[in-house]
Amino acid sequence: MENITIYMEEESGERTPLEVPTDMGMNLMEILKSYEYPIEAICGGMALCATCHIEVLEGEVGERTEAEEEMLDTLFNTEENSRLACQIRPNDSNHQMVIRLLGEDD
Ligand code: FES
Repeated sequence: MENITIYMEEESGERTPLEVPTDMGMNLMEILKSYEYPIEAICGGMALCATCHIEVLEGEVGERTEAEEEMLDTLFNTEENSRLACQIRPNDSNHQMVIRLLGEDD
């Protein structure tokens, strides 16, 4: 099993390292749920609910998908680096990436 490490910036500002598999076909939403982050994923990863909304603070995850762009357009708390975790399949280039959970809106 291949793992990379990404960091979740918690509300306290602390960064929690997460071991993330890159060879299990899991998207980032599924991985974050497995770490028990409060993501409802009502749409099952179809870019339709935004409960998996994250901000990428450091690192590069490529372009947003079209469906992702449309969903993010409807939110009040979308940032320049906003992404939907369900649309990201972590790979080696995401090693050391830092993210923050934003959710639907707040
Ligand atoms: S799980 Fe619904 S948008 Fe990502």
